[in-house]
Amino acid sequence: GNNVSIGLLGLGVVGSGVIKLIESHQEKLSHQLGCNVDVKGVLVRDLDKYREVGVDQRILTTNPDDVIQNPEIDIIVEVMGGIELAREYILKAFAAKKHVVTANKDLVALYGPELQEAASNNKCDFYYEASVAGGIPILRSINDGLSSDLIRKVMGIVNGTTNYILTKMDKEGLSYETALKQAQELGFAEADPTSDVEGLDAARKMAILCRLAFSMDVDLNDVEVKGISSIDLEDLNYAKQLDLTMKLIGYANFEDQKLDVSVQPTLLSHNHPLSSVNNEYNAVYVYGEAVGETMFYGPGAGSLPTATAIMSDVVTVIKNMLLNVTGTQFVEPHFKKDLKAPSE
Ligand code: NDP
Ligand code: HSE
Repeated sequence: GNNVSIGLLGLGVVGSGVIKLIESHQEKLSHQLGCNVDVKGVLVRDLDKYREVGVDQRILTTNPDDVIQNPEIDIIVEVMGGIELAREYILKAFAAKKHVVTANKDLVALYGPELQEAASNNKCDFYYEASVAGGIPILRSINDGLSSDLIRKVMGIVNGTTNYILTKMDKEGLSYETALKQAQELGFAEADPTSDVEGLDAARKMAILCRLAFSMDVDLNDVEVKGISSIDLEDLNYAKQLDLTMKLIGYANFEDQKLDVSVQPTLLSHNHPLSSVNNEYNAVYVYGEAVGETMFYGPGAGSLPTATAIMSDVVTVIKNMLLNVTGTQFVEPHFKKDLKAPSE
């Protein structure tokens, strides 16, 4: 039947993955949705950079309104990164009655509830599965799969860049700088990798996980955050002698109405399940009161894995459109606004 059209804000590592995935998986998409998905607008800053990429040059633009206000576009996919401009564009998109899917954890960690509210005020969808742990469908799992349980603990490796660096230093003896450079070349790192290596990216992802898992808003100032920038080969060799592995671990524990959140390099024994999560892979351990221990594993960064999370959100939005309902990643009425974590 009809086409559903999306507009991309950004055509970098993730945006180009989205284009590739739509092309390679069109048959699967149209089979499950009964319509084709196409891309009708792509925002970039520098058109010259995109002359050679396999995208129809006519849909490329440097004017955000060409995408956001395009009446033919139903869904805006924000994959440009940054905070203030991305927020402005997404709010404009909701005002123009477009559904929004984003991979932007910096933005969702800071402004998630506000954006959610703008979405529901405009009867629009807002989904952000790609913002945490790349290709692992962890937000859906917490939101839907574990929705009947009381979650007590969330723990995991949620940054691909730092896990890649630690793995390469540990297993191949690469220097910190060389390993970071490789992670950047492979498209895992942020444009400015400071938030990766200093642990802030992981802290932001933990904040998003906590909203969904515990219905609590985490003030990032209350999170103890330590990154890996001061770790050297000597530290890793010392750990090895003790038969331990160093991982950057995000930790959130809800006990006695109190939520404790931290991100720090942690020494794990070799039989700990998180010790064998290597390279850009991520894993999230979720402990629920009734279900007990669950564990989610997969690629935490990279072009196509992240694109699958984006496009699965797009599929959800299209299914909602077909059913004439709106959906959200996060259900506001259950949000314990008055509770603050971890200390008042
Ligand atoms: P890239 O740096 O590879 O791409 C960014 C794209 O956005 C470029 O096409 C750039 O255009 C465009 N862009 C950036 N700022 C603007 C602006 N102000 N106006 C117009 N266009 C702009 O980033 P990624 O694809 O790696 O990441 C995108 C988002 O996805 C980020 O929020 C990131 O945190 C998130 N993410 C990334 C993952 C990964 O593995 N890379 C995984 C999960 C989430 P130009 O080149 O012309 O500047
Ligand atoms: N820079 C991020 C990482 C991308 O390395 O995990 C995925 O969010």
